[in-house]
Amino acid sequence: MENIDWSNLPFGYHKPDYNVRCHFKNGKWGELEISSSEYLNIHQAATALHYGQQAFEGMKAYRGKNGEIRIFRWEENYKRMERSAHGILMEPVPKQTFKDAIFKAVKLNERWIPPHGTGAALYIRPLLIGSGAEIGVKPAKEYLFVVFVTPVGPYFKAGFKPIDIAIVRDSDRTAPLGTGMYKVGGNYAASLPGIKETKEAGYAQPLYLDSKEKKYIDEIGAANFFGIKNNTYITPDSNSILPSITNKSIQEMAPDLGIKVEARPVPVEELETFEEVGACGTAAIIAPIGKIKDLDQDRTFTYSSDGKPGPISTKIYNKLLGIQFGDEEDPYGWIDIIE
Ligand SMILES: Cc1ncc(COP(=O)(O)O)c(C=O)c1O
Repeated sequence: MENIDWSNLPFGYHKPDYNVRCHFKNGKWGELEISSSEYLNIHQAATALHYGQQAFEGMKAYRGKNGEIRIFRWEENYKRMERSAHGILMEPVPKQTFKDAIFKAVKLNERWIPPHGTGAALYIRPLLIGSGAEIGVKPAKEYLFVVFVTPVGPYFKAGFKPIDIAIVRDSDRTAPLGTGMYKVGGNYAASLPGIKETKEAGYAQPLYLDSKEKKYIDEIGAANFFGIKNNTYITPDSNSILPSITNKSIQEMAPDLGIKVEARPVPVEELETFEEVGACGTAAIIAPIGKIKDLDQDRTFTYSSDGKPGPISTKIYNKLLGIQFGDEEDPYGWIDIIE
């Protein structure tokens, strides 16, 4: 095996050994298949390719202190994928098939799980696509479920440091009654212009506002938003954001850290009242925000000017990462160990 500098691995694709697949045909799901090919052989008229019938998930397996393989809240990813499938009329994968496929994909690629202490983890990508051929706009009759994994480095190579983001107003990732609450590819295609615009302006991620009125905060790139003030963790309640499992976990553990929680619409004006702001999601767990630039109104909200994250974001980050890597107790039953 090549020599890998785990701590400097990018957050990108690195070829694993195997993936796991399952087909839905003739009204039923088949047996799991193991493949070592990185390619899918797919019909040119598959609905996934033309009409965006596809959903995916993102989760991580962590190597614990004693070498154990730890998976974080896979049932939540299952539930979200099931909702995504229903949302765009795809055939959901049975829960047991989902579990067996992710556990098998991790176990078969065990040598790619980064060692404990490197900050790196094994990213798990379940993918469900309409594979049946249709030319009219309608749901496919056949589906393909694939789980592949890839080792990913720590999101912050330079340590846990604030990033700067920008509000974008001239593109939306989702419509008010659209598919924003599902993890489907179309939302990500729609988010690319906003990401491009923010990167070109010199910012790390776009901050999306609600697409109907542009009055409330939705989310930050592929992560949820939170603001902190008066020892309270405040996060948007909106039906056009992806319900983040990291965010849900933070809300569940915050009271045990002595932090209050509010999930409610967050008006843009409130940005000036926060003591700390952050983005939360599987990739970075928490990305503290240093500054938010409003590109149209030429104003900037500053939360950190010394390159340091705020104390509450740091407390939450250390606790959650500690549970995931097994350096802290898991009183919530969030971790499954893969034997
Ligand atoms: C649009 C969007 N929002 C939020 C998140 C964060 O969700 P989670 O914490 O489940 O990774 C993700 C990543 O999955 C995402 O793609």
